[in-house]
Amino acid sequence: MSHLKLDVSKLKPFIGETCLPRFQEQIKSCHELLVNRTGKGNDFLGWIDLPAQIDQALIDRIQSDAVKIRNMAEVFVVIGIGGSYLGSRAVIEALGNPFEDLKKDSAAPYVIFAGENLSEDYHSHLLELLDRKEYAVAVISKSGTTTEPAVAFRIIRQHIEAKYGKEGARQRIFAITDASRGALKQLADSEGYSSYVIPDDVGGRYSVLTPVGLLPIAVAGFDIGALVEGAVVMRDIALESDNCEENPCALYAAVRNILYRNGKFIEILVAYEPNMLYVIEWWKQLYGESEGKENKGIFPAGVTFTSDLHSMGQYIQEGMRVLFETVISIETPSKTLVVPDDPENLDGLNFLSGKRFSEVNRMAELGTMLAHVDGGVPNIRIILPALNEHFLGQLIYFFEFSCALSGYALGINPFDQPGVEAYKKNMFALLGKPGFEKETEELRRRI
Ligand code: PA5
Repeated sequence: MSHLKLDVSKLKPFIGETCLPRFQEQIKSCHELLVNRTGKGNDFLGWIDLPAQIDQALIDRIQSDAVKIRNMAEVFVVIGIGGSYLGSRAVIEALGNPFEDLKKDSAAPYVIFAGENLSEDYHSHLLELLDRKEYAVAVISKSGTTTEPAVAFRIIRQHIEAKYGKEGARQRIFAITDASRGALKQLADSEGYSSYVIPDDVGGRYSVLTPVGLLPIAVAGFDIGALVEGAVVMRDIALESDNCEENPCALYAAVRNILYRNGKFIEILVAYEPNMLYVIEWWKQLYGESEGKENKGIFPAGVTFTSDLHSMGQYIQEGMRVLFETVISIETPSKTLVVPDDPENLDGLNFLSGKRFSEVNRMAELGTMLAHVDGGVPNIRIILPALNEHFLGQLIYFFEFSCALSGYALGINPFDQPGVEAYKKNMFALLGKPGFEKETEELRRRI
């Protein structure tokens, strides 16, 4: 069975030959911390075994709810923020047809996200759409107390109850939250919504392979069994060896830490498929929230090429030399499209006649890699055989496991996010939430 591979051959000009063997010892101890569950944040390691332990009954229940939702809804609204939406959005967009919503014959509902921002315009436009469409809703929050999804759900709950009546709405609302805590859990119990549990020991940004990601992905029509199987394949590889030569997760964690110590503070994740935009967004959250603490951490950035070669390309080639790139390279496209011959050749492109689009894209990728390496940007390539559920499952687990190893190598706890509270405190104070009176006064004076 083929699997994801990591190519670090283009790091040679940037990393001395002895660096990686020297770092191996450190990665070995990080691997030990993780598999023996003795490192920081070890009460949030449920994601390690999750793909291998997923209950078939849970998959069956998700699939049967997905069928129900597909039969009743043209639009499926997923309400959640951060780890409660990025994983499902990443998979749905990566595997989907970007023009699906324009296709009249589409079998799956169009999945729309809400409560991941506080825009009045965005949510007003959404309500206008929901006036006209049959819809169902998933409201997702592990804590059950996050403001953005909670306020979006308050608006949408009123809308759905007005449209379908209380009982009709109950059939169309699915809550995904903690087993016992939080306002959403209480609301779901008292209203009798169909509910799914987010395991206690799985943090938001590691939750894509729980119902948080699996229900929306199944509703969108993708094979969640294959996604999980892909993750199982990568889990076996990740757990089996702590050696960078055998374990791509260990290698990725090692080289990014070596580069960081050599002053490469920004990692740019690059994709050559526009469908991968939200995979990049999911990865940014996973790495940014896991590693950016204690005044340390690689800043995760992202671009999609070749579009962004015409915007960020200049900076990457010649700006501050604090960058390295990790390219997700997909070997085989799902479709075939060939550049046609043109006897008149007025555009001078006949040298491309008969070539597949993917070959042109590949040469752009390889040419860019060499140009950036020549310009002082170290390059890592993650090679995925194809873009399907199985290999995305591998990619997800690869990034999760590498992130945990890499965070331990940095010396931080990759599973908490204390810094996220600062903005919430100020927002609540400025909005006059009871209990924040002292801060309200202080902050209002400062703005
Ligand atoms: O990774 C995390 O824990 C966070 O990004 C959360 O997913 C995000 O803050 C949303 O939290 P919740 O699911 O509790 O609403």
